[in-house]
Amino acid sequence: MNTEKSKQLFEEAKKFIPGGVNSPVRAFKSVGGDPLFIKRGEGSKIYDVDGNEFIDYIGSWGPHIFGHNPSFIKEALLKAIENGTSFGAPTELEVKMAKLITEFVPSVEMVRMVNSGTEATMSAVRAARGYTGKERIIKFEGCYHGHADFFLIKAGSGALTLGVPTSPGVTKGNVADTLIADFNNIESVKKLIKANKNKIAAVIIEAIVGNMGVVKADNKFIKELRTLCNEEKIVLIIDEVMTGFRVAKGGAQEVLGVKADLTTFGKIIGGGLPVGAYGGKKEIMEMIAPAGPVYQAGTLSGNPLAMSAGYTALSYIKDHPEIYNQLEEKSAYLEKGIKENLKKLNKHLSINRVGSMLTLFFTEDKVTDFDSAVKSDTKIFGKYFHEMLKRGIYLPPAQYEAFFISTAHTKDDLNKTISANYESLKDVLR
Ligand SMILES: Cc1ncc(COP(=O)(O)O)c(C=O)c1O
Repeated sequence: MNTEKSKQLFEEAKKFIPGGVNSPVRAFKSVGGDPLFIKRGEGSKIYDVDGNEFIDYIGSWGPHIFGHNPSFIKEALLKAIENGTSFGAPTELEVKMAKLITEFVPSVEMVRMVNSGTEATMSAVRAARGYTGKERIIKFEGCYHGHADFFLIKAGSGALTLGVPTSPGVTKGNVADTLIADFNNIESVKKLIKANKNKIAAVIIEAIVGNMGVVKADNKFIKELRTLCNEEKIVLIIDEVMTGFRVAKGGAQEVLGVKADLTTFGKIIGGGLPVGAYGGKKEIMEMIAPAGPVYQAGTLSGNPLAMSAGYTALSYIKDHPEIYNQLEEKSAYLEKGIKENLKKLNKHLSINRVGSMLTLFFTEDKVTDFDSAVKSDTKIFGKYFHEMLKRGIYLPPAQYEAFFISTAHTKDDLNKTISANYESLKDVLR
């Protein structure tokens, strides 16, 4: 594969951009090698600056549920741009967007648009703190909620010991306020609540996790978590930045039959443009300025171009509920193909899939939480990633991520992926 232009661009980029990229995972650090610079995307394919074509399973890390550059979103954007790019004043589309979101996700009665998933989760936590008058939060080891200081904490050495920052620049105050529980383990949550009685403002969770690879919360666990939050007057924030409008129209909450107090969104909600949102119970959302005292603002929030792409994406979903059957069929076909390959090779690897999110873990053991996820052999994953890339398949360049399948993936794409998977696994699992 010729990657000369990508290599040149990366060398140039490193002089002016930290690490040569604007978001770390793009740099291929966990799989080795240099990133490819992408020029164009169309349907299920992306094309790099050297003219290589790939079947893409990143889909911009989730937003492209209809594949790259769908004509209906492109047309909406071109139409919107005729009227101007930003006003800093309310527009009609923001009202329609908010209404549509509340229609899709029953636990959301009011919603505020922001510009990224991080902004959504950060603001939801502030809302929960303002509403409850309490300061501490509980998050789960292995869940990712963006890069706000108070999320960059991992578990310490024991269940009740202080967490440890995952980045320099995170203050001791943040460490003290973020408590870390084990995913799918209600006892770990109960212990933290008991030791921090009446101090917990919120529990935040990816109810279907994408960020330790795909891991679904047990039905029993999520229901108990809901009950516990009710009993302790803790705001339950379900982070649906990745799962919202992807695993179902109503997100992970629909799949698991649970209702959050606050929900955060990103990715699909922007139709490929930079958008996030947070919403939930009216009595909590009415705490947000200017309705209430909890400050949160944004110069470009509700931006007309972003709203037009996002509203068009969500309207398409509303008018075509069959897309979730299509996604399920395509994704199940891919999963079955990979499983058959493993059988033919007489190997066992763990696969988790929820709808159009799938992770092939390089471990034989079942993956249900962070500890079981990190048993994966990331070195072999790195080799597998490059073998797949060589064969024209662009996977997320990290083990603990999801492959995203879109409605644009054809049977031919999936068959090519399955045979590339067979050849690649044969090479790396000797
Ligand atoms: C579940 C979840 N929450 C929050 C975020 C942060 O979103 P953003 O990257 O738009 O800030 C992500 C990003 O991948 C995510 O997967």
